[in-house]
Amino acid sequence: MNKKITIAIDGFSSTGKSTLAKQLASYLGYVYVDTGAMYRAIALFAMQNGYITAESFDKESLINSLTAIRLQFRYNPELGFAEMYLNDVNVEKEIRTIEVSSFVSKVATIAEVRAKLVEQQQEMGKDKGIVMDGRDIGTVVFPDAELKIFMTSSASTRAQRRYDELIQKGDDVTYEEVLKNVEERDYIDTHRDNSPLVLAEDAIEIDNSHLTRDEQFDIVLGLVDEVTKTE
Ligand code: DC
Repeated sequence: MNKKITIAIDGFSSTGKSTLAKQLASYLGYVYVDTGAMYRAIALFAMQNGYITAESFDKESLINSLTAIRLQFRYNPELGFAEMYLNDVNVEKEIRTIEVSSFVSKVATIAEVRAKLVEQQQEMGKDKGIVMDGRDIGTVVFPDAELKIFMTSSASTRAQRRYDELIQKGDDVTYEEVLKNVEERDYIDTHRDNSPLVLAEDAIEIDNSHLTRDEQFDIVLGLVDEVTKTE
């Protein structure tokens, strides 16, 4: 049997990282971890407690409350993937709203938030056999990951994909709002002082603007094969 490895998938928002990561994890029998969901759950907690609003952000109160936040992924066999629980409440749907999306990048700039989540992520991946997606997986969480993928595609392609998803879920949004959100998040994610989104030296960049899901999956599976053969 091939040796189990760690697969780190980083990249801009809405590049289809989670679709690819889920496909890979299910094909390889690996655990899938969506680290964006963890940052989103913390942003939701901050919103629920009034620490973050459109006008203000009380970072201190959020930092002081971090020990009261328990995040868990619980596998849902009907869906075939794990859902996010915030202090024992399933928040999988709530963390995907445009409100959470508009606050989450700010929450993700806080060093104390990142330290808490990185520690939990490293613990989840300690036995390998894991596909983790995010922004700092190949650079900070698992710098020794055997396979690092960095996904990109144009902001307009990503906004269109995200818009279609939100509309399908019944959200009341415009394409312009979604594009603005995607561009704002790109800016904050790449310019923050703490673990900004950067291409790891040894990551393989995949621009999927013109790739289908299956084409992308086949490319990455080829890379997994190469790595596990030489491991
Ligand atoms: O992947 P996503 O769009 O669900 O991520 C939500 C936000 O969380 C994104 O704006 C950046 C942040 N994030 C991060 O800073 N580090 C990660 N490992 C994952 C997400």
